[in-house]
Amino acid sequence: MTRPGAPIALQQAAAPPDALGRVLADLRISVIDRCNFRCPYCMPEEAYPEDHSFLRARERLDFEEIERLARVFVSLGVRKLRLTGGEPLLRRGLPELVARLAAIEGVEDLALTTNGVLLPRFAQALREAGLKRVTLSMDSTDPEVFRRMSGGRGELDQVEAAIAAAERAGFAPIKINCVVMRGVNDAGVLDLVERFRGTGHVLRFIEYMDVGTVNGWRNDRVVPGAELVRRIDARWPLESVSHSPASTARRWRFVDGGGEIGFINSVTEPFCGGCARARLSADGKLYTCLFSRAGHDLRAPLRAGESDGALRAAVAGIWSHRGDRYSERRAELRAAGVLEHVEMYRIGG
Ligand SMILES: C[S@@+](CC[C@H](N)C(=O)[O-])C[C@H]1O[C@@H](n2cnc3c(N)ncnc32)[C@H](O)[C@@H]1O
Ligand code: SF4
Repeated sequence: MTRPGAPIALQQAAAPPDALGRVLADLRISVIDRCNFRCPYCMPEEAYPEDHSFLRARERLDFEEIERLARVFVSLGVRKLRLTGGEPLLRRGLPELVARLAAIEGVEDLALTTNGVLLPRFAQALREAGLKRVTLSMDSTDPEVFRRMSGGRGELDQVEAAIAAAERAGFAPIKINCVVMRGVNDAGVLDLVERFRGTGHVLRFIEYMDVGTVNGWRNDRVVPGAELVRRIDARWPLESVSHSPASTARRWRFVDGGGEIGFINSVTEPFCGGCARARLSADGKLYTCLFSRAGHDLRAPLRAGESDGALRAAVAGIWSHRGDRYSERRAELRAAGVLEHVEMYRIGG
């Protein structure tokens, strides 16, 4: 039996594949459920007013607990960690967590997804702590539309400042996420493409998903990635680039050498078949799918003093029973009334 906190040998056996043969490779860690934005597709203001009760500090995993669980996951085959939220930069001392995670033997990639507001303050410290990559969210280049898409909380200039700070800190090229909602920001898609063409940064359009229960999702608000490809290709011809089955993004590049662009078509072209991702919420629940209804509590055994070996066995057992493929079954499940999912701000993108 392994002592709590003792380093876990990397040579230990990886987790068995899940019930559909998918191998665990990727862990997304939500470090906080709070956010300084109220994006309508994620945390609409009506559902998350100022007095909403978010997790209290003691309910969240502390950095030691996150590191310990990350070591468990890495010992089971995870090679890629992504920090997310809520807004991860609202978690005090994030560079310290990054340094702890970067020091884990076996971690090949360590990334952060952020809305960028606080990035200028932390970019350099995050880089020095060992963060490898940054993904920023930008839903429009029109200041008014951008403000609306942040729930009236953010300004376009803040994301531009974040991009500049990320470049200065050495994170370039960066990925830029844009969630497209029909009738809200889809008219500005070509402007966004123009903003990032030739910069080396990779813009990715994400189909508006039915995560959570409060974002008022409607199928007719989804703009299929294929429709965007046609629109962009008519202006700047595109050619497809091969992608790995585990990757969420369909990749294209501009024929004229203007760089690459990605499409995360989770609604119209589900990629459950290659999904190697586990998700850990800020309060220590393991979710095996972005659309899970419930998580598996790892905080209780962790705080009860379970050994690393017992935690490994618990995670491996949960993974081996995983049969989630919500996106592939969306129509059938929604028709059957399965509409309850964990909120995205709790487990990150
Ligand atoms: C939940 S956020 C957390 C990190 C950070 N606050 C941010 O916005 O980048 C991660 C990603 O999920 C995306 N997202 C949130 N709700 C979504 C939805 N309903 N459909 C598609 N993507 C969504 C966001 O645009 C963002 O790029
Ligand atoms: S998408 Fe990110 S920035 Fe927007 S509300 Fe959700 S967590 Fe906050």
